[in-house]
Amino acid sequence: MVKYSDLGLVNSRALFQKAVKGGYAIPAFNFNNMEQMQSIIQACVETKSPVILQVSSGARKYANQTLLRYMAQGAVEYAKELGQNIPIVLHLDHGDSLELCKSCIDYGFSSVMIDGSHLEYNANVDLTASVVEYAHKHDITVEGELGVLAGVEDDVSAEEHTYTQPEEVEDFVKKTGVDSLAISIGTSHGAFKFKPGQDPKIRLDILEEIEKRIPGFAIVLHGSSSVPQELVKAINQYGGKLSDAIGIPEDQLRLASKSAVCKINIDSDGRLAMTAAIRKVFAESPAEFDPRKYLGPARDALRELYKHKIIHVLGSNDKI
Ligand code: G3H
Ligand code: 13P
Ligand code: ZN
Repeated sequence: MVKYSDLGLVNSRALFQKAVKGGYAIPAFNFNNMEQMQSIIQACVETKSPVILQVSSGARKYANQTLLRYMAQGAVEYAKELGQNIPIVLHLDHGDSLELCKSCIDYGFSSVMIDGSHLEYNANVDLTASVVEYAHKHDITVEGELGVLAGVEDDVSAEEHTYTQPEEVEDFVKKTGVDSLAISIGTSHGAFKFKPGQDPKIRLDILEEIEKRIPGFAIVLHGSSSVPQELVKAINQYGGKLSDAIGIPEDQLRLASKSAVCKINIDSDGRLAMTAAIRKVFAESPAEFDPRKYLGPARDALRELYKHKIIHVLGSNDKI
């Protein structure tokens, strides 16, 4: 058993309490490789922001859980080398079983998500409660989910959103003992969140209703990339083919982060930033074949994107 605190990591409890009171959200950025991890840490050090490093099942398959955990451990030292001791959470994104959550907890993760949102309500409660029981023994924080996001989530695809029902949240939180709750209010994973012509709006009214039922409780938004159109344009300009990629407008996320939303998940925007930067190098320097010459610019673009999110969307700058 590896204890996360021995690795210099923290759980999310105190971070969320401060964030809810302070009217900002902690960034939860996914990482799968060294360049992503470096740019996340550089951005958070430069803006003095706490951070949640997220590992998805896809990331575990792609990069190996052991390597990712050591990278997170390295991130703690890396931040100090860059001059700032920032709070870093290592979080399992979309855990789908008690076994997976246990294996991450035993391996040094400080926070896990158990996503039982596709299950029937009571089955979701039971599964989530079983993870909380194990996690809390080790002082690890747990995120649950109620409501289903449209699009692909955990290899399950849903055509339509099933919005979180505010009448269920109080009971769910009480019965499971979760530390935070992911809700479905119109965000979705990936770069195609709305159809052209559709009003790109999330249901802040449902968020408000949920807050009334569980005041001060930590709320999480998944699927919160904004799909910056300048990145889509750059990708297409340099040979890509992305049409009708639309995200959540940043001003709506800013409003959400001023409320009880204290963790905002962003992955796709980072993918777009990296892809645009790499395509530019390939298009402008076709003879280049040193990966550092295209991964380096991709890393720089990613760092700037994350800084922008922290300062202008989440408001978590200067909150360490
Ligand atoms: O939840 C979705 C995240 O963007 C992770 O995606 O499963 O492709 O790593 P992934
Ligand atoms: P995006 O695809 O909108 O970046 O969402 C990422 C996410 O929710 C990871 O869990
Ligand atoms: Zn997600």
